Amino acid sequence: MLSASDCVLSEAQAHSQYAAAVEASELNEDHSTHHDVNKEYADLNWDELGFGPIPIDYMYVMKCTKDEKYFSQGTLTRFGNIDMNPSSGILNYGQGLFEGLKANRTEDGRILLFRPEQNARRLQMGAERMCMPSPTIEQFIHALKQIVNANKSWVPPPGKGSLYIRPLLMGSGPVLGAMPAAEYTFLIFASPVGIYHKGTLNLIVEEKFYRAFPGGTGGIKTAANYATVFKPVTEAKAKGFSDVLFLDVTTRKNIEEASTSNIFILKKNVISTPAITGTILPGITRKSIIEIARVLDYQVKERDIPAEELFDAEEVFCTGTAMVVNPVSSITYMGKRIEYKTGVNTVAQNLRTMLTGIQTGQIEDKMGWTVEIA
Ligand SMILES: Cc1ncc(COP(=O)(O)O)c(C=O)c1O
Repeated sequence: MLSASDCVLSEAQAHSQYAAAVEASELNEDHSTHHDVNKEYADLNWDELGFGPIPIDYMYVMKCTKDEKYFSQGTLTRFGNIDMNPSSGILNYGQGLFEGLKANRTEDGRILLFRPEQNARRLQMGAERMCMPSPTIEQFIHALKQIVNANKSWVPPPGKGSLYIRPLLMGSGPVLGAMPAAEYTFLIFASPVGIYHKGTLNLIVEEKFYRAFPGGTGGIKTAANYATVFKPVTEAKAKGFSDVLFLDVTTRKNIEEASTSNIFILKKNVISTPAITGTILPGITRKSIIEIARVLDYQVKERDIPAEELFDAEEVFCTGTAMVVNPVSSITYMGKRIEYKTGVNTVAQNLRTMLTGIQTGQIEDKMGWTVEIA
């Protein structure tokens, strides 16, 4: 079995890269000149990209103030710490959402976003649930284009990684009683990233902690869904697993998803993934993989999947923006370790190749999914 240190794309590595990048920026007293934004690439060791925060040049901020119901003009500002009222809605009541998507550089020098309107829609859905105003799809995409353009030199060379873009929507106005804030901030920062998880995944079915419940917030990307899974995930990692696989809380029998990714199983040529019922995050990679698989003539079913089915699945894989499509080599359930086929000639690899090909411009995008940064 892999040890925890094999599984995690070493957080120590990510921290040291962050420290080096901060040090590089601090060496120049004038932050605005720490790197020449006209240079094609920022000074970074592109061969050693991990998945940790690296401070880049600009972030994007847009506000919805008390008297307005809508977000208005946003601006690019230098990347850095933000002012936050101690009684803000996000700090006190967790009124916040985040998104995650990538910009990739193609071999012929273009920069592509992948289905950004899907992230905009998911943010809007989440905002509705969390009593927050949200940017329009046009505002969201315009902001993404601005932040990528302003930080072009941080988009890794083709094949070295992606610029991971993190939009945040938060209640930034002060509140004391438990209620929605009066002011909101939409902020986007980004960081160059490499591989999220090195190697295949070894999961354990989580039988004590639950991630979501019907009527709750499992289907949206609110920060609180993540803080509450740190404990089971940390415990699983300490035992050498890469992540946990959550069960539904109603029957405690059906698999739902991992802590930051959706799950698929392959059995007798049918690809199945848990249906979106409100407790699972509707992943954009999940949706794209379903669509690609159908184009490739695989049969795909969105349905309840009893954990018992893990015993006779042939392949299992997880999907998400960060990890793309990651094969699962084993799942431990009720004390038994079940192993799956991974590597060459697997369905997971086939789907991954198609998806990353479209995302990086190596395969023609017949789906109309990519958006070029002009
Ligand atoms: C809980 C959870 N499920 C699934 C996903 C995958 O979603 P997507 O493919 O949109 O990245 C994520 C990704 O952030 C996640 O956090």
